[in-house]
Amino acid sequence: MDKETAASRLAELRELIHEHNYYYHVLDEPRISDAKFDMLMKELLELEKLYPELVTDDSPSQRLGGAPLATFPEVRHIVPMLSLENAFSEGEVKAFYRRLQKNLGLEQITLVGEPKIDGLAVSLYYEKGKFVRGATRGDGERGEEITANLRTIRSLPLRLRKNFTMEVRGEVYMPLLGFERLNREREEAGLSLFANPRNAAAGSLRQLDPVVAAQRPLDLFVYGMVQLDGERLNSQWEILNLLKEVGFKVNEHVRILNNLQEAMDYYEYMRALRATLPYEIDGVVLKVNELVYQQAVGYTSRVPRWAIAYKFTAEEGITRILDITVNVGRTGVITPLAELEPLLLSGSVIKRASLHNEGMIREKDVMIGDTVIVHKAGEVIPQIVRVLKEKRNGEERPFSMPEQCPSCGKKIYRFPGEAALRCLNPACPAQVVERIVHFASRGAMDISGLGEALAINLYRAGLVKDVGDLYTLTLDDLSRLERMGKKSAENLLNALERSKENPLHRLIYALGIRLVGERAARLLAAHFGSLPRLAAASWEELVALKEIGPQIAASLQDFFGQQETKNVLQKLEKAGVNFREPEPQGEEELLTRNLEGMNFVLTGTLQHLTREQAREMIEAQGGKVLSSVSRNINYLIVGEKPGSKLEKALKLGIKVLKEEEMLQMLDGSARARS
Ligand code: IVH
Repeated sequence: MDKETAASRLAELRELIHEHNYYYHVLDEPRISDAKFDMLMKELLELEKLYPELVTDDSPSQRLGGAPLATFPEVRHIVPMLSLENAFSEGEVKAFYRRLQKNLGLEQITLVGEPKIDGLAVSLYYEKGKFVRGATRGDGERGEEITANLRTIRSLPLRLRKNFTMEVRGEVYMPLLGFERLNREREEAGLSLFANPRNAAAGSLRQLDPVVAAQRPLDLFVYGMVQLDGERLNSQWEILNLLKEVGFKVNEHVRILNNLQEAMDYYEYMRALRATLPYEIDGVVLKVNELVYQQAVGYTSRVPRWAIAYKFTAEEGITRILDITVNVGRTGVITPLAELEPLLLSGSVIKRASLHNEGMIREKDVMIGDTVIVHKAGEVIPQIVRVLKEKRNGEERPFSMPEQCPSCGKKIYRFPGEAALRCLNPACPAQVVERIVHFASRGAMDISGLGEALAINLYRAGLVKDVGDLYTLTLDDLSRLERMGKKSAENLLNALERSKENPLHRLIYALGIRLVGERAARLLAAHFGSLPRLAAASWEELVALKEIGPQIAASLQDFFGQQETKNVLQKLEKAGVNFREPEPQGEEELLTRNLEGMNFVLTGTLQHLTREQAREMIEAQGGKVLSSVSRNINYLIVGEKPGSKLEKALKLGIKVLKEEEMLQMLDGSARARS
């Protein structure tokens, strides 16, 4: 075949293959057999081999064309990729709708309902109909360019059905079946498993080698468009239709919703459908349909005011307890863990559930071998709801807590009035490791790359006995560790170096002083300004601070009085770790009255605070704590073993916060002004 004929046949083949690819992967309605499709592909590949100069970027052969990369180039999003406001109750969605009615001066606002796909947001850039570039969301302003990996997704059109220049936004996800298959393969290969389809999709998109990415079962739904020359569109519905027309996969469950009631019905409908879908969704997204109305209500710095994500709540499932093991935490608390027969719940494979303490095991009458109902809410560790005693067959075994620490073998104690058992040996390996992990964690010193596995390695190799030793690590030390490449070693040293500059409040939090959370750390740093001053603070000075009660003060004095602490601080100082708070602010400034007019109810046992402390903190910011749940309540704060108040609050659509979430909210509202 001469070159000219080859060129025209290749053009024909490209067109045909794109068409059939579209029927198969986007519409899910193949029009030819797989064998016929393979023949077309084979013909194309052979011709391209003969005339490599005729290979075009948008040829179907180029889905796998990219060479492995060293890193991903950074891309600046021309239009930032925003996130969405979340709603967890009918009340919040109503409020969202009311706000729109008020701002637009309209009685009825048409919305578009879309499933909220649980994957990763991507931005896809097309030039004259050709896919030229794609990126992750990153921090919203800048993402990573992952064009080669995106090309491997079959439902992503390399060429549009119209020659548009435009930027499209969508969600890359991993279908459930593909996810299960991938994990099965990884298990057999002895590789670590992905916790859920979302993580698997994220890991796959960030593969530096597109050949690996191509083997991952990724797919794509698109839901938005940011720029398009020529065409004028008036609504989100028109956008979705245009996206479909030019060859994208738009989710089939998108709907026009004419009023609030239809939006509520849509949520219920999708919630019921959820279990039958071949991919994970974690809620629905409600968007104002008319683009002029979208513009009219506008954006906050973070999210559009014209859209809201109405999230689904937890899911329950049934599984079996294979064994009960115990874990030793950072503060020596011994927690029993149920090792479960793996179960897929809200998209995550669940293998463990916390049993909290011995009392809980007795109360719920949990035995090894029991069939149980587990419950998972968002990201938290799954909980055991109850034992299905009718499923017992007599082979179940009771469990009792060990008398010695499983990590160091020392005797275990229970403090009066506490439910937890503790190992009191500060040199206990499990505790040392957990202290290192905490020190390096996000809100603390933020030393990326230093997780549990590495902490264990460092400890076992005798390189790190306390967090002070971290800063003496050398490239040489690290290169002797198993599974530690030169690049990761350098990255770790850089992260350690950077962490030296952290403001004092992070360091205080990172030290893991009992009862000193992020908020207390901020207050202490703001008040004392430097670590030596805090360490030298008298009891009277400490308790004089708002929010520092006698227990925290005692814990601080105990901590700074210990010889081990003095040794660690000396090492940190010698390494040049910053001991000062940069812009000292009085703690008075940190306190605002942002909770003015808000009503709270507390239920259950709080872990970090007494009820009285919680009340003081809420009142300090202008909120009120009431004793019973009614429609006047804004938030219900739940501790362990919440009572009937929780049920009532859920019925009334009142927002429920866990203790940590409340602390975060108080912290956030206090910082909002500073
Ligand atoms: S719209 C400015 N629509 O949810 C509007 N997002 O929580 C931005 N997501 O980053 C997003 N399905 O990754 C939109 N139908 C949908 C979505 C969706 C999933 C994701 C997306 C976004 C995140 C926000």
